[in-house]
Amino acid sequence: MIEKRVAIAAIIFVLALTGVIALAVRTSGIGLPTCLTDVRPFNEGKVIEQAPKRYEIHYVARMWKFDPPEISVVPGSTADIYLSTADVTHGVNIIGTNFNLMAVPGSVNYARVKFDRTGDYLVVCNEYCGLQHQNMAGVIHVTEKAAAPPPPPAAPAALPGKALLEEYACTACHSIDGSAGTGPTLKGLFGSKRTLDDGTTVTADEEYLEHAIEKPGEQIVKGYDNVMPEMGVPSDDMHTIIQFIETLK
Ligand code: CUA
Repeated sequence: MIEKRVAIAAIIFVLALTGVIALAVRTSGIGLPTCLTDVRPFNEGKVIEQAPKRYEIHYVARMWKFDPPEISVVPGSTADIYLSTADVTHGVNIIGTNFNLMAVPGSVNYARVKFDRTGDYLVVCNEYCGLQHQNMAGVIHVTEKAAAPPPPPAAPAALPGKALLEEYACTACHSIDGSAGTGPTLKGLFGSKRTLDDGTTVTADEEYLEHAIEKPGEQIVKGYDNVMPEMGVPSDDMHTIIQFIETLK
């Protein structure tokens, strides 16, 4: 009998606590804390020259590249590197230095590196992070000409469809020549009938492709696994990509 009362008291307590939290969310607008790496300045790659030979670098690892992909600093400079990830866990090693940190979702890791030797330092990912893990690399140029502005960010909207497919690493899983891969080939895809894993059939028109890129998990083609990440492709790029897919007869 006593157990029953204790159990009822515990349930009432949990319900009351949940109610208080719900009330706090409603009335005071208290929400969940934002993920640290969603907060500027850590959500984008950036090199800030604070003083001669002193840099602050915001380094973002993402499947499957580093942002910024190339960095230039002058010899003898010291860099404070703040490392975050835009997606999964990566491991970041600047070859030839003691910089070897994990990029962990939701956190920003920090280390200071001194670049004494002139030359190119290779940056590699040393934590398995997906299909293109072995190709995930960046470079830090240590050169007297570091005063030159960092390479301008590529304007993705201007890239033709094929380059965009590579830019977003789509081609890691989807071939454009009909060969088999982790995902269906894009060759002959447009206008074809697709059988989904629930047995229904759809036509791969523009609307379908757009949905497949935006919400890859919602319409899985029969015979394939639900492994494609949401890439957050901007609509300009999306239309360029779809126009390109339409040409792959
Ligand atoms: Cu990133 Cu492996």
